[in-house]
Amino acid sequence: MTLRFEASCPDGLCPGWSIILKGEPPSEANKFEINFLCDHDDRVAFHFNPRFTESDIVCNSFMSNTWGQEERCTNFPFGAEEPFQIEIYSDTESFHVYIDDSKVMQYKHRVEDLKTITKVQVVNDINISSLEITKKPFY
Ligand code: GAL
Repeated sequence: MTLRFEASCPDGLCPGWSIILKGEPPSEANKFEINFLCDHDDRVAFHFNPRFTESDIVCNSFMSNTWGQEERCTNFPFGAEEPFQIEIYSDTESFHVYIDDSKVMQYKHRVEDLKTITKVQVVNDINISSLEITKKPFY
């Protein structure tokens, strides 16, 4: 695993926070991940995982030591060396994912105690040009 970015927010990243990531996959991209983590244990509240080998975006959570049921998005707007923007916004119900301003996914919160979601990280095959974390008023 190659860590590209990591930030902690002890008061919790959800709800109301928005992550805007601009970047591009390198030429031989295999996969990358954006993970919303619970810092105090090993839960992954939201794993957002574009897989170039499958042309799918795999979303899931890791809880009680195991991956849950995958939610896949077969709309795969990524291409090698093509710049993109991903926004992940959470409200009290769900994570909402927009790629280049088109909504691609709504992922209902599985970790229900939202304030325990305190870390965001980006790993593997992505060149990040910017990452912005902002608190938004509810849409
Ligand atoms: C597994 C993979 C994990 C994660 C999970 C999502 O096969 O090893 O990294 O992507 O799928 O369901």
